[in-house]
Amino acid sequence: ASKSKSTPQTRHFLDLDVLDAPTLRRIIDMAHAMKKAGKRTPAKFRPAGVEESTLAMIFEKPSTRTRVSFDVAMRQLGGQTLSLNNTDLQLGRGESIKDTARVLSRYVDAIMIRANAHETLLSLAEFGSVPVINGLTDRSHPCQVMADILTYEEHKGPIKGSVVAWVGDGNNVAVSWMHAAVRFGFELRIACPDKLRPEQSIVDWVAREKGAVSYGSDAEAAVKGADCVVTDTWVSMGQTDAARRKRMLKPYRVDARLMSKADKNAIFMHCLPAYLGDEVTEEVLEGPQSVVFDEAENRLHAQKAILAWCLGA
Ligand code: CP
Ligand code: NVA
Repeated sequence: ASKSKSTPQTRHFLDLDVLDAPTLRRIIDMAHAMKKAGKRTPAKFRPAGVEESTLAMIFEKPSTRTRVSFDVAMRQLGGQTLSLNNTDLQLGRGESIKDTARVLSRYVDAIMIRANAHETLLSLAEFGSVPVINGLTDRSHPCQVMADILTYEEHKGPIKGSVVAWVGDGNNVAVSWMHAAVRFGFELRIACPDKLRPEQSIVDWVAREKGAVSYGSDAEAAVKGADCVVTDTWVSMGQTDAARRKRMLKPYRVDARLMSKADKNAIFMHCLPAYLGDEVTEEVLEGPQSVVFDEAENRLHAQKAILAWCLGA
């Protein structure tokens, strides 16, 4: 009874490294089309039976964008949603993720989870029998970067062959950008303090896949001539060493001077929430190159396509 219920056919959306390039391309193309189609999702984009389907969303950490955009996306596809904080579930009192996965799979048709530990996401996918979606873990944030690819392409055309600079913490969002650089074929230049570089296992994966990702500690060198500059908070949810991080990350603030080193038509991205005066200045976030609110909107469109794919479209 404790064996895995997940089959190789189950369409989990766990990370961009475990999905192939054609599938990810198809999801992005579907997202472009769904955005054009508007709120009422045309029948041709709706997975069969979606009207009888429910998405459960589990949150072990706070969320504004992920929570609301997934909820609205599922409704616009024609399905239902449940938003569950882990403290409302027996999970918060120590029930295992394995049992939670098997029980929820009897009620709902897909599960999105924002988890503290990446292992929780993986166990949910292993023991559940419905598609599981990564709504951010300590390791990665793939739905965010799918929305970012959609945003990039709306503003600048195909992302393949372009140059993206990641400036700041080598965090969960940076890891999904690394996966994306390989799967979508663009150059990613990461500038961060040596101590905050992405995990070695992910650097090794990129090398095996012959991805065009470089790592350095010089923000200006990374940004020079780039088509897009991206950053994120210096202190992610669950991190406790805020003072140390802020000290280390000070040279990586994206300000107007740093932005001016990028290509003159470069865009600025940030997954939000932003902490002005830390990782980005108000001048850049509110400036003409910033596309951060398009990015936030595109969570809705990208996730509608991700949900449709998970449910069989
Ligand atoms: N960017 C993002 O995932 O935002 P939330 O934490 O508000 O969901
Ligand atoms: N890196 C951030 C992203 C928030 C959406 C965090 O994990 O808190």
